[in-house]
Amino acid sequence: MNTTMLSHAMPEISPGRLVATPPTLPQHTPAGVVGNTPVLWIGEPYCGRRQGFWAKLEGHNPGGIKDRTALYMVERARERGQLAPGATIIESTSGTLGLGLALAGITHGHPVALVTDPGMEPLMARLLAAYGATVHTVTDPHPTGGWQQARRDRVAELLADDPGAYCPDQYNNPDNVAAYAPLAHELVAQMGRVDTLVVAVGTGGHSAGVSRALRAFFPNLRVVGVDTIGSTIFGQPARPRIMRGLGSSIHPRNVDYRAFDEVHWVDPAQAVRSCRTLAASHYASGGWSVGAVATVARWLSRTRPAAERIVAVFPDGPQRYFDTVFNDEYCARHGLLDGPVPDEPHEISDPGERVVTGWTRCTRVVDPRGTAAAGAGADGEARR
Ligand SMILES: Cc1ncc(COP(=O)(O)O)c(C=O)c1O
Repeated sequence: MNTTMLSHAMPEISPGRLVATPPTLPQHTPAGVVGNTPVLWIGEPYCGRRQGFWAKLEGHNPGGIKDRTALYMVERARERGQLAPGATIIESTSGTLGLGLALAGITHGHPVALVTDPGMEPLMARLLAAYGATVHTVTDPHPTGGWQQARRDRVAELLADDPGAYCPDQYNNPDNVAAYAPLAHELVAQMGRVDTLVVAVGTGGHSAGVSRALRAFFPNLRVVGVDTIGSTIFGQPARPRIMRGLGSSIHPRNVDYRAFDEVHWVDPAQAVRSCRTLAASHYASGGWSVGAVATVARWLSRTRPAAERIVAVFPDGPQRYFDTVFNDEYCARHGLLDGPVPDEPHEISDPGERVVTGWTRCTRVVDPRGTAAAGAGADGEARR
């Protein structure tokens, strides 16, 4: 049979030419493999013909996107003397930062205690324990601040019991923003040009950090924030949420409202549909935030000019979500597989116009803390 072999130009190797002992370099350590994640073109069939966007696959980090910020926050705290050698790190997390802090704890020799809530996937709690972290689960939500406030209150109690301990405070720590400059620089090298950035918002860290560093290269960058329905971040009232990672029931100080040109609230059924379609068609997927970000990036690829280079940040991979997003029984119980999902968002002209219950877009981005009105959308307010 006449066959043609595809060659990837590997150097010829033979036993006699093998390097006996490879050098141990910083990039060969657990922390050294964080960053330099690949980008993947997401085109047909998820997107339309000659349409698509680039996905920055942060799930290729050992834990996820938050490995970057966990290491950065811990290293800066050690430099400043806020975190003494061997002292405990205590933090509230829905999971991804916990994985990063466990990595930082192993790397720098700190015990790690994480506070979470019953919504954390059992798999994630076991994974964190396997990586040496102690996991505390709060049992009741705070009456107004929800699970997030309950977790933060528990962190305060643990800190009071251990005066030497350190809390990175990902919601308010500016290092959680600065940590993402390298991600932006990787995108500059990988993409050459970025016109539109689509990012999920939870603590606000990666949206603020990546957009700030990217705008130094591309001042006209368009930044599209993606939140979940039921989240308070962009001025909606707090309601029960099943999507984790993105969204909040408090107002994290790290959210840079002036960075965003528009915001989308995505509902879980839409996110599930996107995650599943992406997994089956592109062998790349993730959980709630990936599904939400992909939903919006796909719509932008259809509605923005064809030459526009759209990048969506995928914060993690799918493994953690096999008991939720990829579980038919779970999805059926939450009505997430009933009928078709819309192809485009509803529009509102102001976040306070009404409570949104399905995928909705708003080009007026307002800081609900009242410190700054932002957005450069339809009303043309100054963004920066
Ligand atoms: C999976 C996932 N996606 C998105 C986010 C939101 O990222 P940020 O906190 O940087 O806004 C998080 C935050 O924890 C996350 O874990």
